Amino acid sequence: MASLQLITYPHPTLRHRSKPVLRVDARLKELVGEMFEIMYEFRGVGLAANQVNLPIRLFIANPSGDKEEGPELVFINPEVNKAKGIVEAEEGCLSLPGINANVKRNKSLQINAYDMSGNEIKANIDGFLGRIVQHEMDHLDGVLFIDRLAEEIPRSLAEQIQAFETMFETKQKSGAIAKNEELQAQLLEWEQKYC
Ligand code: NI
Repeated sequence: MASLQLITYPHPTLRHRSKPVLRVDARLKELVGEMFEIMYEFRGVGLAANQVNLPIRLFIANPSGDKEEGPELVFINPEVNKAKGIVEAEEGCLSLPGINANVKRNKSLQINAYDMSGNEIKANIDGFLGRIVQHEMDHLDGVLFIDRLAEEIPRSLAEQIQAFETMFETKQKSGAIAKNEELQAQLLEWEQKYC
């Protein structure tokens, strides 16, 4: 199977609600390793599985953005509880390169998830990691940060988003990106393997 690739807006998998992971195998461990490589290559601090066209409830994070520094976190089937407070800050997304805008997020929350070894994770988080977690959790539900902008979308931003849509359409017409039915079939294949 081909290696993973970062997908960008408006790829339909970014709007897909990911399914819970029911099994972790050696291949999935490799895939998570590839996700970290991709995240570092594009200078990100978090990456959801559906951003590499894997429709499963898993995301990774490294708030330092630095492979040497860590920590490298993997959250499987994450759930958020006890979200409190509101804080606004600028966000970006590897699937919307070049776009940054302010988003309101909860200040603190509790996350429940599993790691790659099946151990339960239960942590109270806030600050930058809290923001990453909320951004990535949204991805798993098919929600993008541009859906949650704190202010009305400025025209320049709307134009950038439109440009992504036009480019995607062109690539799909030329065959550089598979047609939606084929993309849907790829998702089903992954879901049959891990969900
Ligand atoms: Ni993102």
